[in-house]
Amino acid sequence: MVSLARSASVRPATREEPETLAGLRAAVQACRRCDLYGHATQGVTGEGPAQARLMLVGEQPGDQEDLAGRPFVGPAGQMLDKALAEAEVPRDRAFVTNAVKHFKHELRGKRRIHKTPNTGEVTACRGWLDAERSIVRPRVIVALGATAAMSVFGKPVAIGASRQKAMQLPDQALGVVTYHPSYLLRVPDAVAKAKAYAAFLEDLKFAWGLVA
Ligand code: URA
Repeated sequence: MVSLARSASVRPATREEPETLAGLRAAVQACRRCDLYGHATQGVTGEGPAQARLMLVGEQPGDQEDLAGRPFVGPAGQMLDKALAEAEVPRDRAFVTNAVKHFKHELRGKRRIHKTPNTGEVTACRGWLDAERSIVRPRVIVALGATAAMSVFGKPVAIGASRQKAMQLPDQALGVVTYHPSYLLRVPDAVAKAKAYAAFLEDLKFAWGLVA
């Protein structure tokens, strides 16, 4: 397996990591560790209680998140909210963030179409997620999808095979993986979609059970 820390050349951090969420938000706006800042409206950092025991990590802000400056407020966020409510996980007790802080996309006409961040971009942004982890110090970190898992664990993780496991992370948190909410929106077959959604609910309940 390729270790994320060694897999790509990135611009090194030139300043000390911020120690507060407000400081981190300001620092991300000035981030030049990769080129994504140049095409995004703003950097989008995490949101939620500074002492949350549960952290949910997505991939990157989407079109609506880029404009609003807040994570998970678009269609994927609505799916996440619905699932959290059904799984009885209070969203206001979770810190919700992303592996990559700027929206990567390509223009098709006037539409901004999501593009998956590459390993170099995930690596470049990892310091910001690590800073959020060390400020919030969650007990449980849920990686939503493969990009988040790559950043949280520092190596590729097979989501299907790794669900429902609590994996020890070096910062004392437990890491859990599950599907990304956008994946649930994309599954074309109704039966497969219902199955994936049920699995997602199980995983959210599993993670919340570890917090309690
Ligand atoms: N998808 C993500 O991974 N994060 C967001 O904030 C929105 C969509």
